[in-house]
Amino acid sequence: MSRTEPHPDKTTSTLSIVQPRATDAAAVHALIARCPPLDRNSLYCNLLQCSDFAESCALARLDGRVAGFVSGYLPPRKPNVLFIWQVAVDSAARGHGLARRLIQDILDRDACADVEWIHTTVTPGNEASRAMFTRLAEELGAGVEVRPHFDRHVHLAGQADSEELFLIGPFVARGSTGG
Ligand SMILES: CC(C)(COP(=O)(O)OP(=O)(O)OC[C@H]1O[C@@H](n2cnc3c(N)ncnc32)[C@H](O)[C@@H]1OP(=O)(O)O)[C@@H](O)C(=O)NCCC(=O)NCCS
Repeated sequence: MSRTEPHPDKTTSTLSIVQPRATDAAAVHALIARCPPLDRNSLYCNLLQCSDFAESCALARLDGRVAGFVSGYLPPRKPNVLFIWQVAVDSAARGHGLARRLIQDILDRDACADVEWIHTTVTPGNEASRAMFTRLAEELGAGVEVRPHFDRHVHLAGQADSEELFLIGPFVARGSTGG
């Protein structure tokens, strides 16, 4: 799905939300580098997201420049779950609901016809991310359960903060052929 419309606060700006292509991977890699505390991963990782996993990822362009990206995947043994991996919005574009709109764009696709849950992991200190996912759950009319998940010492070799699992759902499937 692709949407093009004026940016809500700047009538002279144009915002579009699309499924990414392989040729977007380098710009996505640069965006993620501008969005700490995100793990930068590799350009090759972003290339796979923008090709094999493109149906569960979304890209925002503001006046033609990549300003937002959500990576996600459909876990193989959980057909009703969309796992959100990373969410990145350029600092100048934050606070306008763009992160939520990117995730909603993924949910509206055929690939998500059976999706009734979003799973994601968030560090306890990432207030913006926690607020964004809590607000998303409200928009979907869904509950949020938070559980301990990846532990700093057990799973992350003491190199990164522990990650809590957010389970958002159930909600009515929104994919084009679902619900
Ligand atoms: C997290 C992030 C993706 C949110 O993007 P966004 O487009 O600004 O998100 P939204 O506009 O949908 O904001 C969601 C809510 O969080 C709130 N929020 C934004 N920044 C906040 C902050 N620093 N502290 C607390 N709440 C915050 C907003 O007010 C909004 O709530 P509201 O709509 O009720 O006012 C963006 O801040 C970002 O890219 N951060 C750096 C990378 C990161 O941490 N990604 C998430 C981990 S995967």
